[in-house]
Amino acid sequence: MTATTTPARRRWDPIVRITHWSIALAVLANALVTEEGSGPHIWVGYGLAAILGLRLLWGLVGPAEARFAAFWPSPRKALAHLRDIRAGTVTPHASHNPLGALMVYAIWGCLLTIIATGITMAGPPPWDGAEREEEHRSIAVSGESHDEEGEEEGEEGLLGEIHETAANLLYLLILLHLAGVIFETRRSGKQVLVAMAPFGR
Ligand code: HEM
Ligand code: HEM
Repeated sequence: MTATTTPARRRWDPIVRITHWSIALAVLANALVTEEGSGPHIWVGYGLAAILGLRLLWGLVGPAEARFAAFWPSPRKALAHLRDIRAGTVTPHASHNPLGALMVYAIWGCLLTIIATGITMAGPPPWDGAEREEEHRSIAVSGESHDEEGEEEGEEGLLGEIHETAANLLYLLILLHLAGVIFETRRSGKQVLVAMAPFGR
């Protein structure tokens, strides 16, 4: 994935760059560091939700190349982009290139699914992992098979499944994203990477 940039725009604006690297950090933290469902996992999750919210708002009110209108998903344009690749031509794009754009929406879709299911499972604060564990245990140990509790457990089980599946799909998309960035960097130059560098103007 990824866009080549027009000579006039050398960097993504600070909000796009800051939100990109914070989203990447939060995903890595929840995938590799925090304990699933723990307090820190949920706090990082809410942080991720806020940052993604800011980026999506930026898609409406930010500079032209950061707006959704600049990289609207379009299978027709994506096919044209594939033809460009095959022909070895490099067409400059002011925003994400059309293939990159599809990837961006796929990643955002996964993140929104993970956030919606995560927040629903976390419930209201305090988000203390130990308390959640305790809750699970007491329901399991009490052996009470109240319809309501059974239903709640089943619902949460389903939400957990969706949460986990979306997380696994996200990992796959991230691998493809990195492959796309490497491919596009080799094809059209390291400007693609420089434009997303966290520091510098
Ligand atoms: C967990 C890891 C990552 C996630 C979830 C992620 C997600 C994204 C998203 C959503 C965008 C669109 C940015 C926007 O318009 O707001 C993007 C763009 C980009 N990402 Fe990542 N990213 C990750 C890691 C990385 C890494 C490690 C690199 C560099 C080695 C990288 C390089 C880029 C570049 C260069 C772009 C701009 C592409 C373009 O010009 O169209 N990303 N990424
Ligand atoms: C991209 C970021 C995230 C990743 C990679 C991730 C990953 C995971 C994984 C793999 C599990 C275990 C699922 C299972 O076995 O049922 C889990 C559980 C959980 N996650 Fe996340 N998560 C993320 C974001 C969030 C967010 C945003 C929230 C809420 C704000 C959240 C709240 C939870 C909760 C409450 C559980 C426990 C579910 C249970 O009790 O079965 N997660 N997460």
